[in-house]
Amino acid sequence: MDCPPRPLPTGYPSEPWAPSCLGFPLPAPQGSPRLVSFSDFKHPGTTRKPEESPQNSCFSTSAQNNAKVAVLGASGGIGQPLSLLLKNSPLVSRLTLYDIAHTPGVAADLSHIETRATVKGYLGPEQLPDCLKGCDVVVIPAGVPRKPGMTRDDLFNTNATIVATLAAACAQHCPEAMICIIANPVNSTIPITAEVFKKHGVYNPNRIFGVTTLDIVRANTFVAELKGLDPARVNVPVIGGHAGKTIIPLISQCTPKVDFPQDQLAALTGRIQEAGTEVVKAKAGAGSATLSMAYAGARFVFSLLDAMNGKEGVVECSFVQSQEADSSYFSTPLLLGPACSHSSVEVRARSLS
Ligand SMILES: NC(=O)c1ccc[n+]([C@@H]2O[C@H](COP(=O)([O-])OP(=O)(O)OC[C@H]3O[C@@H](n4cnc5c(N)ncnc54)[C@H](O)[C@@H]3O)[C@@H](O)[C@H]2O)c1
Repeated sequence: MDCPPRPLPTGYPSEPWAPSCLGFPLPAPQGSPRLVSFSDFKHPGTTRKPEESPQNSCFSTSAQNNAKVAVLGASGGIGQPLSLLLKNSPLVSRLTLYDIAHTPGVAADLSHIETRATVKGYLGPEQLPDCLKGCDVVVIPAGVPRKPGMTRDDLFNTNATIVATLAAACAQHCPEAMICIIANPVNSTIPITAEVFKKHGVYNPNRIFGVTTLDIVRANTFVAELKGLDPARVNVPVIGGHAGKTIIPLISQCTPKVDFPQDQLAALTGRIQEAGTEVVKAKAGAGSATLSMAYAGARFVFSLLDAMNGKEGVVECSFVQSQEADSSYFSTPLLLGPACSHSSVEVRARSLS
């Protein structure tokens, strides 16, 4: 099966000194994904003048690699490798790291890496505002992970409060930033974040993303394994939510096209849906997916930054407020990018089967 390689993103360095193994491909646009218009997105490294109406502004599409990115929960199992990947990117000029523990050490460590992004650690709630001010993108892996026997919903009581508190700080101190929520249960933490932003009068559904990229990464890997393909050339859209049966891999929409007998298809679908539990069990109480999640989180942030920088045809699935299904929040392929449109979200007709 011959399929052209997907284009490389600009998120990772391409200079000769950069380890080429860090590069990863972006998925090719699938069918007609929903278009998320970035016409009201602030360009990384720029500050919108107060008189500019979000609905009427359209940023320049010239590439600028000046993104200011914050990681909240930066000292954790996901936060540390995610921060490392972000520090390694030429797209990022400032990295601010927040946690309730250990950020001075994590920041000092990362700051010695010979890439240009400045790194600063912020510790405790009183330092959170300074961490957030001026940010273009905020990634939130803060929260407790699963232990064997737990579902993502079992994390709700603890993580809902953590995410709501951090979302409130974002709404106050960087209301225009793209907010990428990794903390579980994503099916609940996204609606919570949306409500917090609404309460502060700064809600824009185009700026709040539930990071489900790991489901796509896993689906690509598992399909490639079964078919003997290069995973970098496989792209399986995964829609729905981010928990068990709400994770819906669209194997029929995979590129390149792949066919499986019904029993193998059922087993593959089940494995993708329970892949997080596979890792939780294997880690035997030491947490859930961290390294693969850091990779997936970085891929999503780099796609966002590429799109914010004017790159066209950037598609990622993400759990967002949606009109595409009966559920108010749903993950579908999103075409990310700037568009001089007066509507903030344009939904294109799409066929999923
Ligand atoms: N979206 C996904 O696909 C996906 C995949 C894997 C894990 N997760 C979720 O990501 C979250 C983090 O997982 P992890 O393995 O990194 O956990 P971890 O326990 O290793 O790290 C969490 C970090 O959050 C910090 N934290 C706790 N409360 C905080 C607060 N109020 N403010 C700031 N920081 C705070 C902790 O100090 C810790 O450093 C979990 O909820 C997990 O379920 C999501």
